Amino acid sequence: MVNAWYIDDSLREPLDESVKRSDRHLNPPEYLTLDELRRKTGVTIETVNVDKYDNDSDNNNIEEELAKHASSKGYVYTDVLDIHAERLDNYSEKLRAFYTEHLHSDDEVRLVLVGSAYFDVRDIDNRWVRIHVRRGDQLNLLAGTYHRFTLDVDNYVKLFRLFGSKPDWSSFNRPADEHPARVDYMSRAVKGF
Ligand SMILES: [Fe+2]
Repeated sequence: MVNAWYIDDSLREPLDESVKRSDRHLNPPEYLTLDELRRKTGVTIETVNVDKYDNDSDNNNIEEELAKHASSKGYVYTDVLDIHAERLDNYSEKLRAFYTEHLHSDDEVRLVLVGSAYFDVRDIDNRWVRIHVRRGDQLNLLAGTYHRFTLDVDNYVKLFRLFGSKPDWSSFNRPADEHPARVDYMSRAVKGF
């Protein structure tokens, strides 16, 4: 079960990694239901039984099995991002970029294979919502959503990335209000997505 909550945004950036990776709850905490999350940010969450793909009868690995399944659902490209200090090239630089508020022209779809992490998204009132994803959670973030990413205190996540069209790796840092994907996102936001 995914938890989502509004964060305490009173601290001045840039923050230490330990602060970024903490839960940053308000006092008292202010959670959103998954329905509120969808209506206020456009984000939807699916639960995927990743164990099923791990234990498949043939000898393919989980990533191959998931890629086959993704392609049957219309995704045209998938890959794996292993966010581990010793295994990911330019680890600190990448984490800094992921944490910089940005948007994309395409939906960002991420399934957690191992570990856990936070995706922060701006809601329709410009408040930061923190979404805690764990193994089996698939986050679907619409094109044009202002967002950022950080590891949590466990410092590790392995993500399966799914693309509905040929990957366009560009990010547009905020402000990008005139970006067509943002304009489209805002027109959907006023209708409650
Ligand atoms: Fe992103």
